[in-house]
Amino acid sequence: MNARKLRKTYIDFFKARGHAEIKSAPLVPENDPTVLFTTAGMHPLVPFLLGEKHPAGTRLVNVQKCLRTGDIEEVGDTTHLTFFEMLGNWSLGDYFKEEAIRYSYEFLTDVLGLTQDRLWVSCFAGDADAPRDEEAAQAWRDLGIPEDRIVFLGKKDNWWGPAGETGPCGPDTEMFVELEQPPCGAECGITCNCGKFVEIWNDVFMQYNKTAEGRYEPLKQKNVDTGMGVERVAAVLQGKKSAYETELFAPLFRTITEISGQQNPEATRSGRIVAEHMRAATFLMGDGVRPGNVDQAYILRRLIRRAIREARMLGVRGSFAVRLADCVIREYGDVYCELKQNEGFIREEMSREEGQFSATLERGTREFNKLIESFPPHVDRKVVSGRKAFYLYETFGFPLELTVEMARERGFDVDTKGFDAAFRKHQEKSRKGAEQKFKGGLADQSERTTALHTATHLLHAALRRVLGDHVKQAGSNITAKRLRFDFTHPQKVTPEELKRVESIVNDVINDDLPIDSEEMTLKDAQDSGAIGLFGDRYGERVKVYSIGNFSMEVCGGPHAKRTGDLGKFRIRKEESSSRGVRRIKAVLE
Ligand code: ALA
Repeated sequence: MNARKLRKTYIDFFKARGHAEIKSAPLVPENDPTVLFTTAGMHPLVPFLLGEKHPAGTRLVNVQKCLRTGDIEEVGDTTHLTFFEMLGNWSLGDYFKEEAIRYSYEFLTDVLGLTQDRLWVSCFAGDADAPRDEEAAQAWRDLGIPEDRIVFLGKKDNWWGPAGETGPCGPDTEMFVELEQPPCGAECGITCNCGKFVEIWNDVFMQYNKTAEGRYEPLKQKNVDTGMGVERVAAVLQGKKSAYETELFAPLFRTITEISGQQNPEATRSGRIVAEHMRAATFLMGDGVRPGNVDQAYILRRLIRRAIREARMLGVRGSFAVRLADCVIREYGDVYCELKQNEGFIREEMSREEGQFSATLERGTREFNKLIESFPPHVDRKVVSGRKAFYLYETFGFPLELTVEMARERGFDVDTKGFDAAFRKHQEKSRKGAEQKFKGGLADQSERTTALHTATHLLHAALRRVLGDHVKQAGSNITAKRLRFDFTHPQKVTPEELKRVESIVNDVINDDLPIDSEEMTLKDAQDSGAIGLFGDRYGERVKVYSIGNFSMEVCGGPHAKRTGDLGKFRIRKEESSSRGVRRIKAVLE
């Protein structure tokens, strides 16, 4: 079964069981300062796992675009990917363990045709925080899975979440397919990574909330969150050893062969890096990210620049990035229409970034080689200084990680601390900030961020009053300290206009208006004048937040209860974000 059929079959299966299909959220989460990327289907659903009512109901299903950067350096082997698609079904306080497990089993056996004798499962073994998951194990026994293929494991293996420090989490049960190959030894089993056992699905029973103090408190509602990787399952169903051998990557590898002359690029590390990174980069651009030096933009730059270097190693000489982006758009454009909608942007940005880096890659590589060769052959400490690494970054655009990788290939280390020091000296917005965010967790739903979220709605409505109805949200990002709001407007907002916006927002805060939400159809929301990023972004039913009669906006929440809870609103900065888009940073004092 190919990936296209797999996606459809999965969605249809769960729709037939009362699940509403929801759209894949963008790879860049909105209003979530704590993560750079959507790394699992549950990210955008956190408020609903915590008890908010989802407008589409209590049973949901989707295919979610995900990006995980933790293993970026491992990409090149046959298993790791940064970008992948995750099939997921959710119960928001609806069905629980028995039904979730039964659905999974039926889908794997009846629909995908995996015979029961190939399946293994693992369940949570229990610890001081939560008991052994007998309920899950019993559900598997009842379906006929023999006792010796039900393995109990600890938190490391059979617990999922919270994705950050706090939030919804719980024990999980994982499903494995046994491949027809000899075990790697007497100890070979589902936890072994020799390749005999492939984990294909994870059913998480989100019944706890981990608090900042590290306690696991039972959640108001018991949820199910499941995740099944499209690439992995497609490979298993097609009898392939790796996702790189499936049809999802075939057009990319065909093009790589055309431009490099290299036969079977899928069999090479460089070939896999080029294909994987260009696929991820195209999807990121499809969600509006431009290469740059901080946060998501920096990761995008890293992916493209690493791919360009590896392509050179494969023998590619001219430009190639746009051709690979075209492959991705062709292969995925009908499933993820944003790729088609943003085709012009993707091609332009891809070509610009490639042009910029190609111009300096060769000179930078020569410089790097000279540096390495300047070390006496028997030197003890083979370390490239932070200052040198920063020079390569600044002058030739080498992301630090690329220098580290190139150094490693020659048996050298890089003084990354020294690099950071040099970097900080030159630029306040350091790369480290970006990395800190990876370590963070899910949507910070503290009072402060919630208040800033409400302030964003007030700002949006006030801007439309002062500047006109052409003002539309183009982006939003909230941290515990400030809000950042991007909106369409052709010129600089004058200081007088900013003052008016600020005082309108503060007047509404002083009026202490209530904030209410209501569910309605998308059409009713539009008809009633609610603002929002319509397009095909939302599902059939949406939630609309109203702030008195002042603002009405389609939004998932959460929000403050009354505007009086917000504090004083202050605009700190107004600047250009990109052509035709302005950016405001504001705080609540
Ligand atoms: N959230 C779970 C995972 O990513 C399903 O594995």
